[in-house]
Amino acid sequence: MRSGDKLIAGLLGLVFVAAIGKGVYDAYHPIDDKGIPFYSTLSEAEQRKGADLYRDLSCRNCHVIWAVKNVMETVPAPSLDGIGSLRSEAWLYRYFSAKDPQTILPTRLKKKYTQPSYASLSEEKRRFLAKYFASLKVKDWYLQKTKAAEYKKLTGNVYMQQTQAK
Ligand code: HEC
Repeated sequence: MRSGDKLIAGLLGLVFVAAIGKGVYDAYHPIDDKGIPFYSTLSEAEQRKGADLYRDLSCRNCHVIWAVKNVMETVPAPSLDGIGSLRSEAWLYRYFSAKDPQTILPTRLKKKYTQPSYASLSEEKRRFLAKYFASLKVKDWYLQKTKAAEYKKLTGNVYMQQTQAK
């Protein structure tokens, strides 16, 4: 082989070894070692209070949070993990207080599956719900990765943050 060919063969070999290496690595590290991307900014006690409300109000009949879901239900409601990175506390308070939440967030689902109104809850509870869900954040690397994947799926193009700025 000429030295140029050797170089190319060598490079291909390297790529190949790297690919196998990555496959082996992924097989032994199926969970991204950046850790769980979801977290809450509230104290443990407040988080417990929020989780209790979430359970008592049967939000989990439709929603998933920390991957906890009522397994008997199959409502296609959005996961609430990291919702506080997408919606503000003020937005959430308005949403939970709305007589008809679909005027804020339109739905394509049948009425029985859509977000119910929680306007009849006490103001203190609605405020706490808003505070709790606003505290559920998603780490930026995961948000960007998810956005990029969704963007690619929807448009077929590579997501570039700069081009998204308005
Ligand atoms: C009957 C099923 C159901 C129940 C019960 C329910 N939700 Fe929802 N929720 C939905 C659906 C479906 C949506 C998406 C909007 C729509 O279709 O109305 C939604 C949307 C939301 C959103 C907005 C998500 C976004 O993308 O901005 C939040 C926040 C939310 N729900 C919180 C709650 C909380 C907190 C509870 C309990 C107090 C609750 N939901 C109970 C079905 C439900």
